[in-house]
Amino acid sequence: AALLARRHSLAGKHVLVTAGPTREMIDPVRCLTNPSTGTMGFALARAAARRGARVTLVTGPTLLPTPPGVTRIDVTSAQEMYEVVLQHADTADFVFMAAAVADYTPVETAPSKLKKEADELVLRLRRTPDILAELGRRRRPDQVLVGFAMETDNALENAREKLRRKNLDWIALNRLNEPGAGFGTGTNRLTLLHRSGHLEELPLLPKDEAAEALLDRVLREIPSG
Ligand code: CTP
Ligand code: CA
Repeated sequence: AALLARRHSLAGKHVLVTAGPTREMIDPVRCLTNPSTGTMGFALARAAARRGARVTLVTGPTLLPTPPGVTRIDVTSAQEMYEVVLQHADTADFVFMAAAVADYTPVETAPSKLKKEADELVLRLRRTPDILAELGRRRRPDQVLVGFAMETDNALENAREKLRRKNLDWIALNRLNEPGAGFGTGTNRLTLLHRSGHLEELPLLPKDEAAEALLDRVLREIPSG
């Protein structure tokens, strides 16, 4: 019965999901990135499509297969992800920003491979655009914005602050120092925080079940219809 209720719960809705790491090129053969595998975002995209949504998945580099019925757009850098996400955000009813976006990118990308010379090398970096914060500034009143936070210290406090500052409805907090949480694990222990102050600790779950649970909670919040 729960499965049936889920099946059409997103019919007619456009769900925008981001996933994976971004890659910031230093030269043609080197980059700054992070260990995100995209698993959580792909699981959310798959789950939303199963519930009848039209799903746009904007993903950084990953080897994961595209879930059935999902429109996938591959990007590399944070800047590229920013541009593609903003192109698709206007029509989105729900946005899940599960990508691990690089916060800094090289000020310049060398056109040819850098050769090793000096013993020390200084890289100049500049901030990338904060995609989610921009979505928070542009959001329609009826658009649901869900962010993620990966924290090691003062996790709850930092997540609450991001929820407020980025004007989100929900933030899903991943505590890196908890067993089974974080990068490249098949499981997740998410703490869900709602803008109302409501907090729920999900149990340790396989990422596909964590995705279902997150969708259940987010949809329950929607006024009937
Ligand atoms: N995010 C984003 N654009 C960025 C950086 C982050 O859209 N340039 C999004 C992430 O996808 C995530 C949320 O913002 O949904 C929080 O990301 P996180 O890295 O935890 O927080 P930051 O705001 O980047 O702050 P910090 O890394 O300093 O903790
Ligand atoms: Ca960050």
